[in-house]
Amino acid sequence: MPSDTPDPGAIAAAVRILQDARKLAVLTGAGMSQESGVPTFRDELTGLWATFNPTELATESAFRRNPARVFSWYVTRLSRVRDVTPHEGYLSLVTMERHFDRVVVITQNVDGLHTRSGSRHVLEIHGSLERFRCLDAGHPYDRDVLELADGEEMDDGEMFEPPLCTECGSPVRPGVVWFGEMLPESEVELAWQAAADADAMLVVGTSAEVFPAADLPRITAASGAKVIEINPSVTPISSYADVCCRGTAARALTAISVELEHQLSLG
Ligand code: OAD
Repeated sequence: MPSDTPDPGAIAAAVRILQDARKLAVLTGAGMSQESGVPTFRDELTGLWATFNPTELATESAFRRNPARVFSWYVTRLSRVRDVTPHEGYLSLVTMERHFDRVVVITQNVDGLHTRSGSRHVLEIHGSLERFRCLDAGHPYDRDVLELADGEEMDDGEMFEPPLCTECGSPVRPGVVWFGEMLPESEVELAWQAAADADAMLVVGTSAEVFPAADLPRITAASGAKVIEINPSVTPISSYADVCCRGTAARALTAISVELEHQLSLG
């Protein structure tokens, strides 16, 4: 049974690394938002991919085959994440920012919670549920897609035809990266730079199964910098991370932030 509460020894070891770091990179995945009530993808029972088939929802060909189903699924996810609150682990990351010259948060999540909680430099390398654009030309959709639900709560299975782009008439699609698509170029460049320049990287709540994001901690490790993993379960990163905090994001990040504050107050 994976543990929720990380071992104090691991927290102390993580804090020793962070005390010496000036540039911090943070890589987050779906586990970061789990305690805010956003489901992960690969959890055996509650993960989105346990319930839904990604090839029917997260590819361009799925959208072309059944635009209403795919569009509605993302609108429903957006409606849900708008209702959640970033947990204390998110706020702890923001609190920690003042101890570093620079903190870059690289997230695979599309829920916008890092930005909402106040992190200053956030790179959304898998896109965002908040940004829709047209399929053929990428023209941004500048209205709130939730207006399509007329302010009503979205029901599971409710379908909306995607609106058409006012500039070119192509259907509006979610601004997330689907399987088989390239990651957004400028975010990727900045993310790779941040990983290579960091003195330390915190890797929080990712199964590290999806590339190229899963390569980022290796880039940091290869540059001689330290990698700290926060995850209740073992992942491929665990084999080379300098410290593994086996606990949840909210608990581990809060414990790290409190202990870091304490150590720095001792001078
Ligand atoms: P996964 O669902 O693959 O992995 C979630 C990870 O979070 C697992 O390793 C869990 O052990 C861990 N976890 C669960 N609860 C946690 C908690 N409370 N605190 C900390 N960790 C926890 O999600 P990702 O690694 O983010 O891509 O998946 C990567 C990509 O695969 C996603 O961005 C998405 C998906 O297909 C796209 O949509 C492009």
